[in-house]
Amino acid sequence: MTENIYDTEYVKGLFNRMSNSYERMNYITSFGFSIRWRSQFLQHLEATKEKVEIIDLLTGMGETWYAVKKRFPNANLTALDFSGEMIKRAKIKNAKYYQNKVLLEQQDVLKNELESKKYDFAICSFGLKTFDAEQLSILARETKRILKDGGQFSFIEVSKPDNWLLRILYQIHLSWLVPLVGRLLLGNPSEYKMLWAYTVKFGNVRKASEIFRNAGLEVQEQAYFYGCATGFSGKNA
Ligand SMILES: C[S@@+](CC[C@H](N)C(=O)[O-])C[C@H]1O[C@@H](n2cnc3c(N)ncnc32)[C@H](O)[C@@H]1O
Repeated sequence: MTENIYDTEYVKGLFNRMSNSYERMNYITSFGFSIRWRSQFLQHLEATKEKVEIIDLLTGMGETWYAVKKRFPNANLTALDFSGEMIKRAKIKNAKYYQNKVLLEQQDVLKNELESKKYDFAICSFGLKTFDAEQLSILARETKRILKDGGQFSFIEVSKPDNWLLRILYQIHLSWLVPLVGRLLLGNPSEYKMLWAYTVKFGNVRKASEIFRNAGLEVQEQAYFYGCATGFSGKNA
């Protein structure tokens, strides 16, 4: 029987198993790009020193919090993820670096209990690829529901670049080098192989941004480093 790679329990298991190595792996294998992209995708949101409400959807272990705090120093940050193992590590980070001020929510974003119209900003880094079209529609609807009127959002995802040469190099990197590093350093290559499988199926944000537009959100698309990551941002108009 073939596995449904978009099944929420399957995805949760994958991230639970990767949690002990995810952050280090990200750092080693992205040559610093993931850090740069996490800060770049926030630049599509108006910076403010006000006490705004921000939600980091699919927060992982809080990889984006540092960039969020830099751009929004006085924001109240809520961070949501459904993986118990990721949340466990996010809790440690919260206590160590953020005085436990980040509000952690262990919930499935597709069935969440977040308050409607609460947030000024909704963000999401590298969490789109594990959703199929139907799940992306739910995500779009939920993003619209939880954002205040005029609230802003920015999403980013690793993508298949349009340029064929870059695509081949990127394919070698993600499908071969990343699992190899995973095996040599961390002992779990098969989980990291899935990264490329999801990226191939995802392509880029074009379809997702259309789904968000159809949900009634104002959407602009962005490309990062020649399309090795793509994103979309906009407003709840
Ligand atoms: C690739 S990681 C991204 C983590 C982080 N945002 C980053 O920038 O590295 C995706 C995260 O989304 C979470 N996730 C996937 N599907 C989810 C869902 N339906 N509800 C909540 N969290 C989910 C996973 O547990 C995982 O921690």
